[in-house]
Amino acid sequence: MKIWAHRGCSQIYPENTLTSFEKAMNIPGLAGIELDIQLTKDGELVVIHDERVNRTTEGYGFVKDYSLNELRKLHIFTGIGQESEKIPTMREVMDLLLPKLKSYDGGEDSEGIRLNIELKTSSIRYPGIEEKICELVKEMGVEHAIVYSSFLIESLVKIHDICPTAELGVLDDALSNCLYKTILLEQMWNMQPGTIALHPGGGKIDFPKEFFAGRTVRAWFGGHLYPEAPTNVKMDLERFELAGVTDVFLNEPEKYL
Ligand code: G3P
Ligand code: CA
Repeated sequence: MKIWAHRGCSQIYPENTLTSFEKAMNIPGLAGIELDIQLTKDGELVVIHDERVNRTTEGYGFVKDYSLNELRKLHIFTGIGQESEKIPTMREVMDLLLPKLKSYDGGEDSEGIRLNIELKTSSIRYPGIEEKICELVKEMGVEHAIVYSSFLIESLVKIHDICPTAELGVLDDALSNCLYKTILLEQMWNMQPGTIALHPGGGKIDFPKEFFAGRTVRAWFGGHLYPEAPTNVKMDLERFELAGVTDVFLNEPEKYL
């Protein structure tokens, strides 16, 4: 089972921060890191899960209504004794992860790691976000290490149009819904099976594995299973493996590696 850090090491450190990513990138054996991107009012790519800043900072309102300068004045809530953090730009995160992404060679024992960039385009469409992220990834020279995911099929199609060799992650709550969207992408847009992975909620592996044999299935533990609190209690991942899951996104990957 391949282990990914969900929003970085986000159980112990604040999610989607440079600290959570730095902790994750140094875990031996980690397959990759997952993060979420949104766009500011002035079109900057920033790494934050929610469309609003309310939950993770002292601010109020939508990311899309803040300029990058305004957003950078906010402080991310951190734990006792932890340094104050700002919402990172995607470029800052790429700069941090670059050596690890560059050294990803596709092998099982690669020294490098991958990066799963989730485009948060389902609630707010963010025109131009696909072009911007693909351009940044290209500029950094790490296309081979990236998986782009989204709940919005239109975003995945756009990424494919810009970069036909990009690996896509089809997000949905249940595996059956991921499979439905994936087959649609393969048939209507002539995408190759090897370039699309299924990213279902881990609690809803609702098809027998024979239905999706040979496909990459990266489960995230939405709803009742996730986050896997309390800390230091390990989940049994074997039953997911038996159900056909190949990879998992975990908030506390350090506990499993
Ligand atoms: O990419 C898997 C997972 O991150 C999707 O859900 O809400 O944590 O972004 P969410
Ligand atoms: Ca996500």
